[in-house]
Amino acid sequence: MTDDTLFNGVLLAVFASALATVLLLSWVNAPYGRHQSSGWGPTIPVRLGWVLMESPASLVFFYFYFTGQQAFQLVPLLLMVVWQLHYMHRSFIYPFQIRVKPGARTTMLVIALGSFYCGINGYLNGTYLSHYANHLTVDWLTDPRFILGVMLFGFGYYLNKRSDRMLRELREQNPGAYQIPRGFGFNWVSMPNYLGEIITWSGFALASWSLAGLSFVLFTMANLVPRALANHRWYRETFSDYPRDRKAIIPYIL
Ligand SMILES: NC(=O)c1ccc[n+]([C@@H]2O[C@H](COP(=O)([O-])OP(=O)(O)OC[C@H]3O[C@@H](n4cnc5c(N)ncnc54)[C@H](OP(=O)(O)O)[C@@H]3O)[C@@H](O)[C@H]2O)c1
Repeated sequence: MTDDTLFNGVLLAVFASALATVLLLSWVNAPYGRHQSSGWGPTIPVRLGWVLMESPASLVFFYFYFTGQQAFQLVPLLLMVVWQLHYMHRSFIYPFQIRVKPGARTTMLVIALGSFYCGINGYLNGTYLSHYANHLTVDWLTDPRFILGVMLFGFGYYLNKRSDRMLRELREQNPGAYQIPRGFGFNWVSMPNYLGEIITWSGFALASWSLAGLSFVLFTMANLVPRALANHRWYRETFSDYPRDRKAIIPYIL
């Protein structure tokens, strides 16, 4: 099998599994966080789980990126930096920022599947940027797709990180409990951190103008839209005073 055949085959498999994921997660809630439940096999400590799940997206990306002939060209380098900005944080900082109950554990199956996907995603996007993306010359810096993509990435990144920080602050006020989050993106939707994540990777896909980036957006949506709907239902069932006009993930729509 040539490298091209492998790359295209993996890409196709990710598109197919995004479809399978949205169907599966519309039917069953991934067992972690507020939907953690027994009966899903062995568990591991929550912080370790996050590191193991997310770090392949950073490390595998680095490996395939730096084996490519375009690795030291300006535009691929910029896209590599924004990718790593997110994933170094998510893998090695976020897990130690979240507030977890002492001894809290998470489902190993979720971590194993997430880790496998993150490795595949690192392979696809790292490989694409430095092996295949011939259009990413310096001229691309002034292309509207790049400019708009970087702006979307920045906006999504801010929305995601600020919303996650607000949730941490809520936890600090009331350790171990869930409260109704209020303010900023929570005025419109229950899961602004998920919305920010989707906008971030839509920006990346646009700025890199790649099917690898698109596969990531679709996979992220396949994961986060059903989860946002489930979390929104959970909020409404749990809190009788939950704001009635707040949507799940897309303001005014969904
Ligand atoms: N790209 C992808 O496919 C993908 C997939 C999954 C997650 N992510 C990203 O990973 C990050 C975390 O995801 P997540 O699913 O764990 O998000 P989440 O359900 O919003 O939880 C984030 C953190 O806040 C706590 N929390 C949530 N709601 C709270 C409330 N009402 N009151 C107090 N504390 C609350 C959670 O505690 P508990 O753990 O105790 O619930 C957890 O520590 C997000 O930025 C998300 O976008 C990305």
